[in-house]
Amino acid sequence: MWIFLNDRFVPKEDAMVSVFDHGFLYGDGVYETLRAYGGRIFMLRRHLARLRRSANLIGLNVPIAELDWQPLLQEAMKRNVLSDAYLRITLSRGEGDIGLDPRLCPRPTVVIISLPLQPYPVHLFQAGVSLTVVGVRRNLAAALSPQIKSLNFLNNILAKQEAAQKGAFDGLMLNAEGYITECTTSNMMFVKEGCVCTPSVACGILDGITREVVLSLAHDEGFPIQEGCYTPDVLRHADECFLTNTTMEIMPVCDIDKHAVGSGVPGPVTGRLRELFRTKLPRFLE
Ligand code: PDD
Repeated sequence: MWIFLNDRFVPKEDAMVSVFDHGFLYGDGVYETLRAYGGRIFMLRRHLARLRRSANLIGLNVPIAELDWQPLLQEAMKRNVLSDAYLRITLSRGEGDIGLDPRLCPRPTVVIISLPLQPYPVHLFQAGVSLTVVGVRRNLAAALSPQIKSLNFLNNILAKQEAAQKGAFDGLMLNAEGYITECTTSNMMFVKEGCVCTPSVACGILDGITREVVLSLAHDEGFPIQEGCYTPDVLRHADECFLTNTTMEIMPVCDIDKHAVGSGVPGPVTGRLRELFRTKLPRFLE
């Protein structure tokens, strides 16, 4: 397996990062998860734009020119003979002396990992996944904005751990005001009387790229859409609920805190959106 590290492809065994890398020491860095279908990358430009935004928000220089990313990602897939691929770009502050000041690190570390895509098991799409509303609150936007896709993922890890302890597939996090935000690696949507509802970005979420695509598909299909602030009790009366992210696309939710959502998975709107996602997919590939 080949890994891109800083300026070249190296075998996995040689892909070493210093213990003084501030990504390791402090979680100081950002990342993106991308997915390729038949060698073509889903919403590549949007992912690269978000990577740049995350980097800008932490004052990190992206050491790869915008136009060089696509050839690099293609090369990563070619070297590992991949067609349906999971791609992860990691950018850390780089190696430097102990201390928080980013100026200690003269050169960011860049890593591209490319792996065969491990799709979620089919039975999850058929039966849906269980969620639980976790006690861990989503990071306060004014403290560490969820719009920074940061290497410091402890907020989400603690939520995932709590969900696992409660036997759920994932945890739904509330913000400090008690409004629904998102799950640990996905956005959440629910359907009420045909309307596709989802927490607005102002609630403190990562503005998911799949979320954006699904909202545009829902809009083009004529489904009413509402982005707002919702308390978890609205979910008790939701007709359908689903999660979105790059690797799962659209995942139906069957129950939340052991209360069944709607009557059967996937509900009609979720099913239709999944169908549209699949048929319109080629237009989102770059
Ligand atoms: N996660 N919210 C959070 C907290 C996420 O980490 C992600 C992505 C999303 C969905 O974003 P998108 O649709 O752009 O993938 C929402 C990726 C898959 C990850 O962490 O690997």
